[in-house]
Amino acid sequence: MPTIHQRALDFVRSNAPPGDVTAILAAFDDYGTNHEFLMNVGPEKGPMLTAMVAAQPEGGRVLELGCFCGYSSILIGSALPSGATLTGIEIDPDSVAIARQTVEYAGLSDRVEIIEGGSGDMIPTLTDPFDLVFLDHWKDLYKTDLISIESNNLLRAGSTVFADNVGPLFNPEEYLEYVGTSGHYDTKYHKSHIEYTNREDGVEISVYRG
Ligand SMILES: C[S@@+](CC[C@H](N)C(=O)[O-])C[C@H]1O[C@@H](n2cnc3c(N)ncnc32)[C@H](O)[C@@H]1O
Repeated sequence: MPTIHQRALDFVRSNAPPGDVTAILAAFDDYGTNHEFLMNVGPEKGPMLTAMVAAQPEGGRVLELGCFCGYSSILIGSALPSGATLTGIEIDPDSVAIARQTVEYAGLSDRVEIIEGGSGDMIPTLTDPFDLVFLDHWKDLYKTDLISIESNNLLRAGSTVFADNVGPLFNPEEYLEYVGTSGHYDTKYHKSHIEYTNREDGVEISVYRG
């Protein structure tokens, strides 16, 4: 039995031509809406994310924690300014394999790299600050991993941290309290919905003060 990742990518390949990121994302959205739930950032929160990506500097660096099928990886990859790159970290081997295939199918392998490993192990191996960090792995790791990102000097003043799934159903209090009260961030909650549903969700966009 193929994994959900494989079933989703098979559907995408049958319904979207290679290199057409808009059609590929629409096919994932179709699958997530009409076939099986997919934990993609989705079509409502996705444009909030791409607005942040497009605002980054030329040659900038974006970090993503949690790639699943590569939906957000190609969403980010397609919105990157000239010369900018995305590093994605994903712990699950099935997700890594499919995310890499999605990136290749979208024609974005020249600017998107998916690294296999857990965030806790991989963050200390990274060097140089990122301009934008997208947190979308397991929710109870957000605070710990953000502190690790800070202490490994992977943020600079003005870096943006975009956290998905900080709506009420995800018990986000610890993370929201940290970015709200640590003094390191100017931060704001943006109300939205859980992908492919009408249940409340939100994203937290936080700008590092340094
Ligand atoms: C919500 S999904 C990511 C969705 C993806 N960002 C998108 O919008 O298309 C969460 C992913 O985080 C991965 N994950 C969970 N814990 C992780 C960790 N510690 N390090 C890296 N990836 C992790 C899971 O395997 C899963 O694929």
